[in-house]
Amino acid sequence: MKFFIDTANLADIREAQDMGILDGVTTNPSLMAKEGITGKDNIMSHYKQICEIVEGDVSAEVISTTFDEMIREGEELAELNENIVVKVPMIKDGVKAIKYFTEKGIRTNCTLIFSAGQALLAAKAGATYVSPFVGRLDDISTDGMALIEQIVTIFTNYGYTTEVLAASVRHPMHIIQCAELGADVMTAPLSVIKALLNHPLTDSGLAKFLADHQKAGVPAK
Ligand code: G3P
Repeated sequence: MKFFIDTANLADIREAQDMGILDGVTTNPSLMAKEGITGKDNIMSHYKQICEIVEGDVSAEVISTTFDEMIREGEELAELNENIVVKVPMIKDGVKAIKYFTEKGIRTNCTLIFSAGQALLAAKAGATYVSPFVGRLDDISTDGMALIEQIVTIFTNYGYTTEVLAASVRHPMHIIQCAELGADVMTAPLSVIKALLNHPLTDSGLAKFLADHQKAGVPAK
């Protein structure tokens, strides 16, 4: 399973990259705003900086909602770097835009997926990725992981090459469940990725190994 980081924070992206486990980055307008990145020039330059840090795919989201505007925006974003994947919302013009981008060889990530039907439409239009938001489904008492399972089954049934990118991942168990269900990619904040490191038996075991080594190194009186 590929690990993407879900942030526009350059320090977090660098830290995940330094760990050696990072396969890509996802951003969205909320994450860009959280970093205070506003204005077209700043936004474009921020995407370029992200692409310089990471070797994998970087999802950059369009902020328009009509076909013509999405095409204009997406083509500009795709020009920035070969690793840019144009993120398009799951709306009718978005599906049409994904089809257009696919035919032009521009890769896409269809975002705000909350049902299997939406994922199927995006796959039929040729999306490179679909992004089901598992945490936001859990928030409304709907099983986000059941949606991942459903989409993985449907794509496998018909051999769709569209990758299932689990988004809105909120805790380490989400990551484990995504891996069990065969999601192709998961994207999560750095804190959630780092939470995978933790186990109290690792901490106590390491403390004992180091203490025993220290004792053995000190000659007995
Ligand atoms: O990848 C989508 C993500 O940024 C949304 O996460 O936690 O706001 O639902 P969240």
